[in-house]
Amino acid sequence: MSDHARIELDDQAYEGRMIEGSEGERAVDISSLRNETGAVTYDPGYANTGSVQSSITYIDGDNGILRHRGYAIEDLAKHSDFVETSYLLIYGELPTQAQVTNFRESITKHTLLREDMRPFFDAFPPEAHPMAILSAGTLALSTFYQNHYDPSNPDDVEISTYRLMAKLPTVAAFAYKRSIGQPYIYPRNDLKFAANFLHMMFAVPSEPYEIDPDLARALTELLILHADHEQNCSTSAVRLIGSSQVNLFAAVSGGINALWGPLHGGANQQVVEMLAGIQEAEGDTKEFIRRAKDKDDPFRLMGFGHRVYKNYDPRARIIKDTADRVISKLAGNDPLFEIAQELEETVLSDDYFIERKLYPNVDFYSGLIYRAMNLPLNMYPVLFALGRLPGWIAQWREMSQDPDRRIGRPRQIYTGPTARNYVPIENR
Ligand code: SDX
Repeated sequence: MSDHARIELDDQAYEGRMIEGSEGERAVDISSLRNETGAVTYDPGYANTGSVQSSITYIDGDNGILRHRGYAIEDLAKHSDFVETSYLLIYGELPTQAQVTNFRESITKHTLLREDMRPFFDAFPPEAHPMAILSAGTLALSTFYQNHYDPSNPDDVEISTYRLMAKLPTVAAFAYKRSIGQPYIYPRNDLKFAANFLHMMFAVPSEPYEIDPDLARALTELLILHADHEQNCSTSAVRLIGSSQVNLFAAVSGGINALWGPLHGGANQQVVEMLAGIQEAEGDTKEFIRRAKDKDDPFRLMGFGHRVYKNYDPRARIIKDTADRVISKLAGNDPLFEIAQELEETVLSDDYFIERKLYPNVDFYSGLIYRAMNLPLNMYPVLFALGRLPGWIAQWREMSQDPDRRIGRPRQIYTGPTARNYVPIENR
């Protein structure tokens, strides 16, 4: 295979070296294209543009493969736990027992919020979307650590990693308690990550709360399945924000906002709303599928399609099994789960979706598990954010340590008016 690519432009040619990744992916290095030719490339949504070289996550969208640092997502979901997978993403290797114990303890001892942060939650209206509180809460957290979040200080990066991993679940749970008018439940250091989150979410001070181990395991699996996904919208946002050398809290806060969008992590909430709409239509999916195909209708079948996967999202396959297990245990059955399975069957046999390689993605079934856990709809993207947090941290750390790092600043093609003179208002 050629080790360079040639772009011919009028009477000149640009020779770009080929870059090849460890899985055989190839890229044309165009980093001096504009300097040598005056031209830039144009790629809306960056569907054909590699922005970084990364060793964290590999996706083979055609074959539905997802690996973190070389380990298959199926193995991690089955054998790992969320703190261990977070360690793998952030430090690059599966930890020894001593390493994961130290990492877990370093997180556990930072789960409490500063007590003077409590009024922060009371300032929001009860109906405030928890993603807004999570994003604002991440920035609010940073104000307590302003002297210890320098991106160029390794000790600051380490303590900021622990603080975010430890405190975001507490912020999320406090946001939920605020919305239902219940007392805030403080973290317990004797509980593991998922169990502690369930405790903060569902315990009340007036009676004991028993953690359901199956629920804790299902939540652990969901967090692992959401942990990282190469250069998705929110991770790219974290990297772009981080490239200005702002602190990790500010970059993660931006990532939370990007994830909130209905085309990204907000889709899990939209899927359940769509399924409820189909239920109201007595299970008739025809109108929804007609609208999804209508170019003039912005409606999309939420939970289907993916920029990278042109096959079944491996995470969706795992989540579907978990949904079946959790729903039968908690709810006996859920008509929306039946509707989801029928919709999937219909879509996967419809030429429109087959031609466009539109399969269920990670968001299609995850919301049904959160629903079985009695979480309110607007908390679904929050669970996605808690899962994605170690991925954002790992990607930000990789970006911060990249010797080639530069501030992100894409070019554009200007299409506005050419030069013209100012017209005084009396002459307009
Ligand atoms: C996540 O990037 C990541 O890795 C994201 C994520 C992660 O872990 O970080 O995996 C998480 O965000 C999953 C995606 C959740 N979003 C949804 O489920 C929303 C519904 N999906 C679509 O909006 C869409 O599929 C996207 C946003 C996911 C992908 O959009 P693309 O890659 O820009 O694709 P596109 O809109 O250009 O669609 C290509 C074609 C179009 O038809 P044609 O113009 O070729 O005729 O497929 C159609 C689209 O109309 N299409 C859909 C569709 N998704 C794409 N038609 C109906 N329903 C859909 N869901």
